[in-house]
Amino acid sequence: MKYKDLIESMTLEEKASLMSGKDFWQTQDIKRLGIPNMYLADGPHGMRKQAAAADHLGLNPSLPATSFPTAATVANSWNVTLGEIMGTYLGKEAVAQNVNVLLGPGINMKRNPLAGRNFEYYSEDPYLAGKMAASFIRGIQSNGIAASVKHFAVNSQEERRMVIDTIVDERTLREIYLTAFEIAVKEGKTKTVMSSYNKLNGTYTNEHPHLMQDILRDEWGFDGVVVTDWGGNNDRVAALVTGNELEMPTTNGETDRDIIQAIKAEEIEEKVLDENVDRLLDLIFTTAGDKQDAEKEIDFEAHHDMAQKIAEESIVLLKNTEKILPLDKNKKVAVIGDFAKQPRYQGAGSSVVNPTKLDSTLDLLKEAGLNSIGFEPGYNRYGKKNKDVAKKALKLAKKADLVLLYIGLDEVTEAEGLDRSDMKIPDNQVQLLHALHKVNPNIVAVLSSGAVVEMPWISKVKGLVHGYLSGQAGAKAILRVLTGEVNPSGKLAETYPLHYKDTPSYHHFPGKEVSVEHREGLFIGYRYYDTAGVNVRFPFGYGLSYTTFEYTDIHVDTEGVTFTITNTGDVPGMEVAQLYIGSKSKEIFRPKKELKGFTKVFLNPRESKTVTISFDDKAFRYFNVKTNKWEIEEADYDIMIGASSTDIRLTGVLFIEGTGAAPPYEKERLPSYYSGKANHVSIEEFETLLGARVPESKWNRTKQLGYNDTIAQCQYAKGRFARFAFRLITFSHWFLRKIGKRDTANLIMMSVHHMPFRGMARMTGGIMNMPMLDGILMIVNGQFFKGVRHVLRERRQMLKSR
Ligand code: BGC
Repeated sequence: MKYKDLIESMTLEEKASLMSGKDFWQTQDIKRLGIPNMYLADGPHGMRKQAAAADHLGLNPSLPATSFPTAATVANSWNVTLGEIMGTYLGKEAVAQNVNVLLGPGINMKRNPLAGRNFEYYSEDPYLAGKMAASFIRGIQSNGIAASVKHFAVNSQEERRMVIDTIVDERTLREIYLTAFEIAVKEGKTKTVMSSYNKLNGTYTNEHPHLMQDILRDEWGFDGVVVTDWGGNNDRVAALVTGNELEMPTTNGETDRDIIQAIKAEEIEEKVLDENVDRLLDLIFTTAGDKQDAEKEIDFEAHHDMAQKIAEESIVLLKNTEKILPLDKNKKVAVIGDFAKQPRYQGAGSSVVNPTKLDSTLDLLKEAGLNSIGFEPGYNRYGKKNKDVAKKALKLAKKADLVLLYIGLDEVTEAEGLDRSDMKIPDNQVQLLHALHKVNPNIVAVLSSGAVVEMPWISKVKGLVHGYLSGQAGAKAILRVLTGEVNPSGKLAETYPLHYKDTPSYHHFPGKEVSVEHREGLFIGYRYYDTAGVNVRFPFGYGLSYTTFEYTDIHVDTEGVTFTITNTGDVPGMEVAQLYIGSKSKEIFRPKKELKGFTKVFLNPRESKTVTISFDDKAFRYFNVKTNKWEIEEADYDIMIGASSTDIRLTGVLFIEGTGAAPPYEKERLPSYYSGKANHVSIEEFETLLGARVPESKWNRTKQLGYNDTIAQCQYAKGRFARFAFRLITFSHWFLRKIGKRDTANLIMMSVHHMPFRGMARMTGGIMNMPMLDGILMIVNGQFFKGVRHVLRERRQMLKSR
């Protein structure tokens, strides 16, 4: 142990006190021993340091900070250097505000397009997500502070996120859901990892010995700190044993006492606590304290400019018929769409940033040199139909040569804690588009959303620019793409299916009661569409440019692949070349191709560059569930260089010697996985893959409700009062939506309806403790008077002991 002497000088109580927060954002300090506290703050695309009231839902204001593009946006840049620069800038702002741990990046896999936090995550591909995250982490940590990669792991849905049990087989876990974390740990050297709220195959992630010890510590060699997600602790002692050092936020010492008791009762050895304390002290001493040489004055203008540059490289040009883009500056342009006035630039929840300034398209039209003849909002941002507003837009469109239409999802729809209910943009926007098309077919649409949407309307636009959620400088970045000052070079980090029902997890998302079965296994995103031969709107890796690129001269050897790219157009541009690998053997099922490398190349007109993408340890490996190791299958492999996952420009074949492990599967028992058509897997076949029985996915409605049941389950509680409370909550939710208060309705859903009972003690800032919660549960389970007496008695006790 590095801090052995210091730890020996601490009392048991002092050591335990370090294991949870002092308040909502800070860790405990021990002044007598010179141990300072740490400040932890969100988040993934900008600082959310709260000056006064604290919360984890982005409700109360935070200090102004640069709002960079969200992860879903930056991933489209496929530029790891840019990711690192963004991390460095963010880290500088964190240091200036005395933050020690920045809670990001979020790198969960985009298993389903409706998952509420997709806007905060990078990709459906673990390799791309991992590489982007690792560089971002290196950037943040270059400032002497820590990043916290989150949410570890398989946090694939928001609904019931604090209790849902994710059922996933070991190979899928390793290859899909953990690879990005592995890269973040090994290459990004993240100093902290945030455990996720959910369970993984029956055990809460922060208590999961296989996840926390076997994989994170033993295999990946992680020696940093695991912090719980806010209020995400279930059994403090079990979590400590697996190496979860820090619980956040404060529990007013309640869970520290659990640790002390367990040691005194000799349930665990004090050594376990000491080891956790040792790692935590290392984090404290390497990140805390005044950073003498750090800049304390941030040049926010320079940071804004960097946010713009990052957005410019992340914007994706999806459609450009008749070369309608770049815009002809002589043409009369009608600017339509509420988002042109008030940009949609970030999502809702704990990642919300209070921006230092905010670009708006309308203010920048002149500077962009566009010949705008006027603006009309055209639709109500939150979906309400309004004929008059639409009419005005049509009138304006008639007078113009071209319509620049800003559309997308509103900020209430893309929010932490909730999944979207469909993949559409609001009807009122689609109707407006159809009507506009009738009066003026020259439409260029600018789309703003942090996640995938269906586009049945796409034939009505000639140009389509996807800005994603491009941060506080996004509006200007988009205008620069529209006018051709910037040649778009972003490529999609996720697939755009034609319809939601085409998605592989369609039948198993979200898990509504106990669990969510990841029956599609490895086949998420392009791995499914590509292997099963399902048509999509836009494939993974897709994006247009104002120039064209030619790929020639492929050379493949065991080290890697070398090829030449030429800019065959008239303007400079950047191309993202992607390396995909697929095994020719049919012995072990695999996706047809998987991303194993990429590079972004800048080329002047007619310039050529020869580039090499080296194979790394992930290029040929697969996880063998029989040997319980990464293995390589001896086979011929297709080596493919593509401009997208479906636009393969060069191919080669390479024979690779294997590690000799026998194929782990009985082929005939896994037909869906061997064909890749894994969108409708039977429970029997999934159980074969899982190697275990699938647990009951429905609530046991006869059981009494306990700590980890949610308020939603009060619908079948024994206590009349609980059932009434449930109805009241449901009614309030319905009523709030009815009167257009969708954001407040959402809040009720995520912070009340889906909250486990234990959250009442963990997330109410000390108003309630666990013994009081026992009384609440008595009431819920039908013992009203006994419960009330219990609550009152325990409350008196709690106040007295304080
Ligand atoms: C989120 C985390 C966030 C934390 C603190 C949680 O609800 O899941 O991503 O870092 O709150 O705000």
